Amino acid sequence: MTEFEMIAKTFQGLEEILAKELIDLGANGVAIGNRMVSFRGDKALMYKANFNLRTAIRILKPFLHFHADSADEVYEICKKVNWEQYMTLSDSFAVDAVVYSEDFKHSKFVAYRVKDAIADCFREKYGKRPNVSVANPDLTFHIHISHDDCTLSLDSSGESLHKRGYRQEAMEAPLNEILAAGMILMSGWDGKSDFVDPMCGSGTIPIEAALIARNMAPGLFRSRFAFEKWKDFDRDLFESIYNDDSKERPFEFTIKGYDKDPKAIAVAKRNAKAAGMLDMIEFDVRDFKDFEPIREKTVLITNPPYGERLSDDNLLGLYEMIGERLKHALTGGEAWIISYHYECFDKIGLKPSAKIPLFNGALPCELRKYEIFEGKFGEFRSDGRRLKKDDVPSRRSTTLRHKARLEEKKEGTDNVGKERKTYRKAGDSKPFRGDGERRTFRKDGNDGERKTYRNDGERKTYRKNGERNSFRNDGQKTASKRTYSKSGNKR
Ligand SMILES: C[S@@+](CC[C@H](N)C(=O)[O-])C[C@H]1O[C@@H](n2cnc3c(N)ncnc32)[C@H](O)[C@@H]1O
Repeated sequence: MTEFEMIAKTFQGLEEILAKELIDLGANGVAIGNRMVSFRGDKALMYKANFNLRTAIRILKPFLHFHADSADEVYEICKKVNWEQYMTLSDSFAVDAVVYSEDFKHSKFVAYRVKDAIADCFREKYGKRPNVSVANPDLTFHIHISHDDCTLSLDSSGESLHKRGYRQEAMEAPLNEILAAGMILMSGWDGKSDFVDPMCGSGTIPIEAALIARNMAPGLFRSRFAFEKWKDFDRDLFESIYNDDSKERPFEFTIKGYDKDPKAIAVAKRNAKAAGMLDMIEFDVRDFKDFEPIREKTVLITNPPYGERLSDDNLLGLYEMIGERLKHALTGGEAWIISYHYECFDKIGLKPSAKIPLFNGALPCELRKYEIFEGKFGEFRSDGRRLKKDDVPSRRSTTLRHKARLEEKKEGTDNVGKERKTYRKAGDSKPFRGDGERRTFRKDGNDGERKTYRNDGERKTYRKNGERNSFRNDGQKTASKRTYSKSGNKR
């Protein structure tokens, strides 16, 4: 298959881990940029990137690079594009614009001009224009402008890939799934030891950990990728990727998710059930102050409350308690904690062996690693033992920029409140699919074989004449939302 250029977008701080994911997936020419990684691959790789990547927000397929220094010039160039290569008059479309340029002040205006160009091309030929749909377009085009460098791309993902499809409900400030997965991948945890999130809220970190432990694709529960509406969609190819479970693996350790709030644990259980991971995670209502000693080598990853103000709910006291529990109950293990205020980290009172700048929504945060050993740090060193130099990304300049931004934020409480709002907004509280089912593919509309996923971790082949039954995560049968007929039309 022919190779083409692609761009995977991500959050600041996750670029290197995304590049590693892409290399593991077989991408060529992987190059890291700011909040993006460019790469090359064929159509199969584009499907796999959407289906398998844990730290990508979306995958773009560029099809035209050009120079322009005004929105009108962009319009003129877009008028010359043969849009019928990508869509028909009956397809609805949307245009997204990202602009970093002095010449183009308003990204929305650029998007309007590209929309006008597409609409005018069709109107001139057919006397009619295709519909624009913001909520649910058949195709989304993306224009990226940096100075006068313009790139037009097709968005192969559609809704952000953090919308895995398993989230039924969210508690306040849920962690974005992409960030949760990125933190786990950065820690190097791969399912070969116990794992715990003692403040798990809606369960995002334990659920992403369970998917990583079993090496299951995060796209399994998603109901749709934008490339499925493309003219060149290869249904058989995607079906073979979707049904390929050869890389899945068993998990022999434990994943625990605790929270002191019973409502959070109830929501976490619902989300885990929708992801088919409920039997892999031990959820329990527990205050971290009662955290009991764990088995050696346990990896703890958590996202404690940040609080809008340091004085909220004795936030500093909470971090002091976290430090005390880590020291006494996690001996021989390691902890990765993401937080926002330096003062909170100071209260933990342990020396971190890694500090990684990350953004949680608009909030500049840090992910810190603590290796917990017996005795005092000085004794540990004089023993000849040292903290391991981790295989974590080193981004000194980013760290400093990040630190400066953190300082800026610390100066005004108003700013903190404002950022916090954005952060909440970024959290996905809307269920994407509702039932969290893994969808099934059939070769035909009648007796074709279907593979589906069950709660016990096995994939089952299920066939039933013409009926749309499949197994749900709890092992019960339920009506499947999506299936395909031979003609490729959804039934
Ligand atoms: C920022 S939220 C975690 C969000 C979570 N990562 C998610 O994706 O939904 C922090 C969680 O810590 C919990 N929490 C606060 N203090 C706690 C304590 N002492 N012990 C256990 N959980 C606590 C809160 O109930 C809240 O659910």
